[in-house]
Amino acid sequence: MKLFLDTASVQEIRQMWEVGILDGVTTNPSLVAKEGRPFETVLREICAVGIPSVSAEVVATDVPGMLAEGRRLSKLHPSIYVKTPMTTAGLEATKTLRKEGIRVNMTLVFSANQALLAAKVGASYVSPFIGRLDDQSQDGMELVRDIREIYRQYGFKTEILVASVRHPVHVLEAAKLGADIATMPMAVMEKLVQHPLTDLGLARFLKDWQKVPQESSAPPAR
Ligand code: E4P
Repeated sequence: MKLFLDTASVQEIRQMWEVGILDGVTTNPSLVAKEGRPFETVLREICAVGIPSVSAEVVATDVPGMLAEGRRLSKLHPSIYVKTPMTTAGLEATKTLRKEGIRVNMTLVFSANQALLAAKVGASYVSPFIGRLDDQSQDGMELVRDIREIYRQYGFKTEILVASVRHPVHVLEAAKLGADIATMPMAVMEKLVQHPLTDLGLARFLKDWQKVPQESSAPPAR
């Protein structure tokens, strides 16, 4: 499963990219607003890190507007995936952008039928928002399970990108269901690494190591 960071912070992206576990980045208008810098400047910097997949969202709500923004964003860098919202206009724009060879991530997906439509217009990624469904007392992971089943049934190539991830159990469940990608905030990705028994075990090994007699640094006598 691919792991994406859900952030527009170039600093966070660089940090995780160095570790070697990062496969991509998703941004949205809210995440970009937090950075307080122009969108395209931020996108260029993210792409320059070397990230192979960077999702950038259009803000137009009509088809011509989405097409113009999508084409412009896609020209910024070969790593860009254009994000379109799950609306009738978004579906139409996705179909056209895909015909032009532009990769598209359909976002704000909250039902399996919406995911079916995203696949029918050839979306590269479909982004079900798991955490926001959980917030509404609806099991977000049930949606991922349904999408996986539908896509398998018909051999759709659209990749399932589990979004709105709030904690490590979301990542674990997404992986068990065979989701292609999970995108998560930095704090969640950091928690994937951590375990108190790892810290305890390491501390004990290092303490015991102090008791091991060290080699003499003097050169051997001839
Ligand atoms: C990513 O593509 C989504 O925009 C993001 O995961 C939404 O997360 P949120 O529900 O925490 O805002």
